[in-house]
Amino acid sequence: MLAKTPPMGFNTWNTFGEDINEQVIRETADKMVELGLRDAGYEYLVIDDCWSKRERDPVTGKIVPDETKFPNGMKAVSDYVHSKGLKFGMYSCDGVMTCARYPASFDHEFLDAQTFAEYGVDFLKYDNCYRPRTADQVLLYRRMSNALKACGREILFSACNWGDVEVEKWARSAGIHMYRSTGDINDSFASIRDIALSQVEKINYSGTGCFNDMDMLVVGMYNNGNVSAGGCTDIEYKTHFALWCMFSCPLMLGGDLRKLDGFCLDLVKNKTLIRIDQDEEGRPPFVPNDPGNRNTPTFVKVLSDNQYAVLFTNFKDDRRAGELYFETIGLPVASGYGLHMVDAFTGEDIGVKKEYMRLELEPHDCAMYICTLEK
Ligand code: GAL
Repeated sequence: MLAKTPPMGFNTWNTFGEDINEQVIRETADKMVELGLRDAGYEYLVIDDCWSKRERDPVTGKIVPDETKFPNGMKAVSDYVHSKGLKFGMYSCDGVMTCARYPASFDHEFLDAQTFAEYGVDFLKYDNCYRPRTADQVLLYRRMSNALKACGREILFSACNWGDVEVEKWARSAGIHMYRSTGDINDSFASIRDIALSQVEKINYSGTGCFNDMDMLVVGMYNNGNVSAGGCTDIEYKTHFALWCMFSCPLMLGGDLRKLDGFCLDLVKNKTLIRIDQDEEGRPPFVPNDPGNRNTPTFVKVLSDNQYAVLFTNFKDDRRAGELYFETIGLPVASGYGLHMVDAFTGEDIGVKKEYMRLELEPHDCAMYICTLEK
């Protein structure tokens, strides 16, 4: 079964855009192993847009890799990725051109799926640009879903229509394993916050076999080293990662792994956070206390093994209090039960809290706990 838990891996788009080539993919594959990311669960290495020539092969009709970027073809890249114990992902689009204006799969779905299977592809990201005006996108996603089922290889189908036409309502029935639910993320806290808030109402559709994808992670990008022009702080990346884990989002790294170290590397390898993301029951979170709170929402997620995850956030630019009244998650005082809380970031056991939990949060910071019910 594919996407039993939210898919994890790396995607080239955030850092490299069209500057992709065999060398970058090999180095990224090496890093996924060396840094322990593969062993932490990050298994798919996905090449996004801009990998092909501008025209299909006039004789075979196939999409052809750009030979300056991929001089040995895609099978060689795929073999290398597989030799590292990783899975290989590629990209196409349901229109006549990809978003960056390379050939796309409209009316070539079955041929292209066959080509991807020949490359040894395990994951296909499928975008939504340059569709003919008369073409219905739901049908086009169903077409590619069928083409993948027919190609003789098990390929995870990752839809990228940015949440258009209520994708959360039909993605699962179309055979899609993860669906992009928002426009593109950028390396700023505003983008992270707005994406998370936009999904609170829709997240109930997400679960085992078909997950809501809030876009690739920007953790560790630091605006590609150009800190003066934006990017996030470590605290902001921490809140970003905690939110994605809380929402059971696919965890697709998007920062340059060749530069990922220190705080951000530890963050994306944090076993407790990954465990919360990858919980086998795949339940969505909810906002119990005050569902309309867009400043300091607290998220609660029911996990397997009688555990819970609680995430307090501060989306504002000043210090604020995060709080949770246990009654609002269905834990009345009269029950005698409280929450035994262990800090998800540090492992610190803060004991059993009764009735409510309140704490101060720095601007854009969060606090996350794994909890069990206890008297
Ligand atoms: C966008 C998509 C991005 C990236 C880009 C490539 O539509 O949301 O994640 O794939 O196209 O051109």
